[in-house]
Amino acid sequence: MGEITVSGGKNTAVAVIPATLLCDEPCTIENLPDIDDVHVLIQILRSLGALVDYVPGHHMTVDPRPATGFHVPYAQSSRLRASYYLWGALLGRCARAEVGYPGGCTIGSRPFDQHLKGFMALGAQIEDRGGMVYARTDERLVGSDVFFDCVTVGGTINVMLAAAKAEGTTVIYNAAKEPHIVDLANFLNSMGARVRGAGTDVIRIRGVQRLHGCTYAVIPDQIETGTLMIAAAATRGDVTIHGCIPTHMEALTAKLLEMGVSVTENDDSIRVRPRSDQRAVNIKTQVYPGFPTDLQQPMTALLCMAKGTSTVTETIFEQRFKFLDELRRMGARFKLVDNTALIEGVPQLYGAPVTVTDLRAGAALVVAGLMAKGVTEIYETSYIDRGYERIEEKLRLLGADIRREPV
Ligand code: EPZ
Repeated sequence: MGEITVSGGKNTAVAVIPATLLCDEPCTIENLPDIDDVHVLIQILRSLGALVDYVPGHHMTVDPRPATGFHVPYAQSSRLRASYYLWGALLGRCARAEVGYPGGCTIGSRPFDQHLKGFMALGAQIEDRGGMVYARTDERLVGSDVFFDCVTVGGTINVMLAAAKAEGTTVIYNAAKEPHIVDLANFLNSMGARVRGAGTDVIRIRGVQRLHGCTYAVIPDQIETGTLMIAAAATRGDVTIHGCIPTHMEALTAKLLEMGVSVTENDDSIRVRPRSDQRAVNIKTQVYPGFPTDLQQPMTALLCMAKGTSTVTETIFEQRFKFLDELRRMGARFKLVDNTALIEGVPQLYGAPVTVTDLRAGAALVVAGLMAKGVTEIYETSYIDRGYERIEEKLRLLGADIRREPV
């Protein structure tokens, strides 16, 4: 019950921060979420020689001019998925990158062949050896057509980064359309880049020689907004989420309405209220603007107590149902058939000790704990802190009985 303001977007922040390396002057980023992925990227920028002035929860000013490094060891790159954006940013900045494999949630094999395909199309020589990717080009990258074999958020962002200062024009076909793709394009264009078509299947980037400084505020977090909406529905609360972009939430909003939850959209806020019994629905994750894969897990937790049997089909990642074993211990009833979970709604979940296996699984277990009778102890919460800014403080503001305890 109550009102809360959503933080800046994790998946946009982790693309914009590496993009500052492309700038030829200092630039300032605002509305950054105070999360571990941001902290690690700041450490990496500093290790490359950039000057970073960071005020948590407020802004960050990056002066990339002293940055001469292009090597990021596996010990650093493996701490988050978004370290792979340093491939594109360093190639675009200094025509050279030596960056270890990315880490991130183990929700599938998560190859990056399309990223490397894009770099090679722009003329980079690539060597993939010993858990490191070595990329280089003699002069500047040269713009080219890149046709992705699959829609990839990371691949689209990485080619945008590499192409921003390439010689000539790059056209990305079969591009991802997520809100953070558009936000990165807006940031690059704020520095004087020439990116057109972000948010559509075809993105055209005309390379420029220089990028000037700017001050840019990243968009609010689409997935945190959705997680808070689901938590409100899970607790039958009357919650207003401020500072969000309702049009980014349409796939989730439609499903909550279908369930029987009341959702009211305003310019930059969404109000979620209980209306009737919550009915089972069918979910199929898709690329944007379809139902986001990152909300599949919190939504699956909500469906564990819906009336009837729901189906949840995960089409993006092949191992994104591991957390169901933890939910089973709370009384959830389900059956897995290939990449579809059949969720039989139960009258009540019960608290239990559970362990987080990945970021959004952590969000799902928090939602389940809010619904359960009794106490739920959630272990390995560091996964949650990678992508949510002090989630327990926000939920407590809304009346949840949740607290963090030293292990
Ligand atoms: C980004 O991951 C996000 N991470 C993920 O969010 C999100 O789930 C995903 O996009 C989809 O929206 C960040 O932005 C840091 P993809 P990414 O490349 O870039 C296949 C979270 O919880 N693929 O769009 O890794 C891949 O296997 C995280 O915030 C290739 O085959 O996702 C997957 O099946 C989890 N080859 C599909 O495409 C490639 O070269 C989508 O992957 C690249 C991807």
